Amino acid sequence: MDARPPVLVTRRLPAEALERVAARCDMTLYDGDGAMPRAALLDQVAGKAGAITLLTDRVDDEFLDAAGPQLTIVANYAVGFDNIDVEACTRHGVLASNTPEVLTETTADTAFALIMAASRRIAEGDRFLRSRVPWIWGPLMMLGQDIHHKTLGVVGFGRIGQALARRARGFSMRVVYHDTFRPPAEVESELGAEYLDLDELLAVSDFISLHTNLTPETRHLINADRLAAMKPTAVLVNTSRGPVIDEQALAAALAAGEIFAAGIDVFEREPEVHPDLLACENAVLIPHLGSATVQTRLAMANLAADNLFAALDSQRPPTLLNPKVWEGSS
Ligand code: DGY
Repeated sequence: MDARPPVLVTRRLPAEALERVAARCDMTLYDGDGAMPRAALLDQVAGKAGAITLLTDRVDDEFLDAAGPQLTIVANYAVGFDNIDVEACTRHGVLASNTPEVLTETTADTAFALIMAASRRIAEGDRFLRSRVPWIWGPLMMLGQDIHHKTLGVVGFGRIGQALARRARGFSMRVVYHDTFRPPAEVESELGAEYLDLDELLAVSDFISLHTNLTPETRHLINADRLAAMKPTAVLVNTSRGPVIDEQALAAALAAGEIFAAGIDVFEREPEVHPDLLACENAVLIPHLGSATVQTRLAMANLAADNLFAALDSQRPPTLLNPKVWEGSS
């Protein structure tokens, strides 16, 4: 391996981590404001030994072919990796990694913030005051839904879902969850969480928070029928991936008062936001900010850099997605 291997970083990352990459590698950085245009991505990845990619970059056969056989690793700067065709990476003998753990607590904080903002009409209240409409305190003004002592339904009970459940305990909430796997009984009892099948969870939950990966099975997991199965007072929160919800159906359910409110961080056709959703006063909408704190974004960048350096040094990357490639090469 070159003393200063050529690598591509597809967007400006927190400075400290970027400096580490620049000190160790011959770094090509895409410094544009938005996602790296596809043609530039394919052009710039050619001949690189490694790449730090973002959830806005599609890593597939075309990308891997454009890179060439010397590509060792694609280190994704995100825990979600639906932008990466991991099987294609494995076929090409390219290591793929993501950034789990370091963003768990921050993303759970965001999900809880959305629960609170949507149920207590925080963004709507802020918009109302800024509209400068005359007002006076009133007993029936802008009433929301209680959070404490209510039922939280967590769909996808991995690290972030469990961290959310921990927060709910502080609000004396009942926690129910659904996932395709059951964590060990100790985890259920530590978190006081009860497994329910999805239909039951939707029927009993006051708050439903989504924490699944995006897969063919979870695309439109929350559709018109499932929205109709929720309580009319329910609040739906999504910090996972946009396409897990049928956005058109959600906007219709919010407009019709089929559910009380929604707190949405991720969108089906990101960065586009469905115009009908934008029109819903009872939707709190934020631009994919789940992990967006100074500390967490730096930790993610450092972990992506650690994965990159490990692969360039022929070491096993700490958070590898396709161990088969490593086992085949070691
Ligand atoms: C992720 O990591 O998958 C988030 O969506 C961005 O932090």
